[in-house]
Amino acid sequence: MTTRYQEVMASLRREPKTWLVTGCAGFIGSNILETLLTLNQNVVGLDNFATGHQYNLDEVQKTVTPEQWARFAFHRGDIRDLAACQTAVKGVDYVLHQAALGSVPRSLADPISTNEVNIGGFLNVLVAARDAGVKSFVYAASSSTYGDHEALPKVEDRIGRPLSPYAVTKFVNELYADVFARSYGFGSIGLRYFNVFGKRQDPNGAYAAVIPKWVAAMIHGEQVVVNGDGETSRDFCFVENAVQANILAALAQPEGVNQVYNVAYNARTSLNELFEYLARALGNTGVVYDKQPVYADFRKGDVRHSQADISKAKRLLGYEPMHNIVQGLEVAMPWYTQFLR
Ligand SMILES: NC(=O)c1ccc[n+]([C@@H]2O[C@H](COP(=O)([O-])OP(=O)(O)OC[C@H]3O[C@@H](n4cnc5c(N)ncnc54)[C@H](O)[C@@H]3O)[C@@H](O)[C@H]2O)c1
Repeated sequence: MTTRYQEVMASLRREPKTWLVTGCAGFIGSNILETLLTLNQNVVGLDNFATGHQYNLDEVQKTVTPEQWARFAFHRGDIRDLAACQTAVKGVDYVLHQAALGSVPRSLADPISTNEVNIGGFLNVLVAARDAGVKSFVYAASSSTYGDHEALPKVEDRIGRPLSPYAVTKFVNELYADVFARSYGFGSIGLRYFNVFGKRQDPNGAYAAVIPKWVAAMIHGEQVVVNGDGETSRDFCFVENAVQANILAALAQPEGVNQVYNVAYNARTSLNELFEYLARALGNTGVVYDKQPVYADFRKGDVRHSQADISKAKRLLGYEPMHNIVQGLEVAMPWYTQFLR
């Protein structure tokens, strides 16, 4: 049976479109870029390399053909600059807005920058896209919007109070998207990502996500530090599932628009389990890690447990995540061992 995603990919191959991917030099953006170029799409990228890297773009270039790479136009620019957004969005069919300053701890340390990029920048991209009359606008929302709401699994219309400045910014994105639909008839889709992981996720710096940080430590024979007792849990989402959700959302049917969707796998993995999975997947590549983790304080602003109900995205977008955490780690591990050494 053909899935909705296969149908959509076939239609894009037959009739290429033009996409704007903001944050294209980052982790999720560069994975989206790679898939779109592989599908022979025309892609405009906008990034200021705040947390993304030229080497991510270089790596994408190596995985596609010269003809596919020629379909990519990179704009080095800042989403806080409205003119840069207006230039980038000219002639674009679909916008996939990924650019933002991620990380809860970063937002606690510097709420002003997080606010300027994630809210001011978001509004610029939204206004530029509205004025350019794009066919659809998809943006990276976040599971952090569930805040202190404790019920599991998380269902889109039941949220709590934000636990960090970052969570506030991502919630404000949803509010703006909703108001633009009602005030200007400008439709959009928000994708609440849950702990995305995979190749090109940055292992470096104070704000690195847990998976690349731990894998890098394991590869280098260093100590893995667990924040809290290790029973904190997350719904880890392999990046290819997130890429699929973006492409499906861009081509959603009218009833799927002006909505937010959970993007995850619908499983719950504790940090202690994650440690075991990582050590095992690494072992399968021939790297033995035999140290035990050390336990440190809980991190401020972190939610205790997270697991997504993904039935809405399945129903309205045709989302079918292809990789659970173990399968995703198997796919990603050769990249980690090659690039994190
Ligand atoms: N990775 C996750 O688990 C996760 C979870 C929830 C939401 N998100 C959201 O997904 C999106 C992508 O996250 P990611 O993990 O790929 O992060 P990332 O840091 O790897 O990518 C973000 C990209 O945006 C760019 N950027 C930042 N500020 C910019 C600015 N002012 N102008 C232009 N470009 C700018 C960065 O240089 C970077 O390339 C973000 O909106 C993030 O908030 C990610």
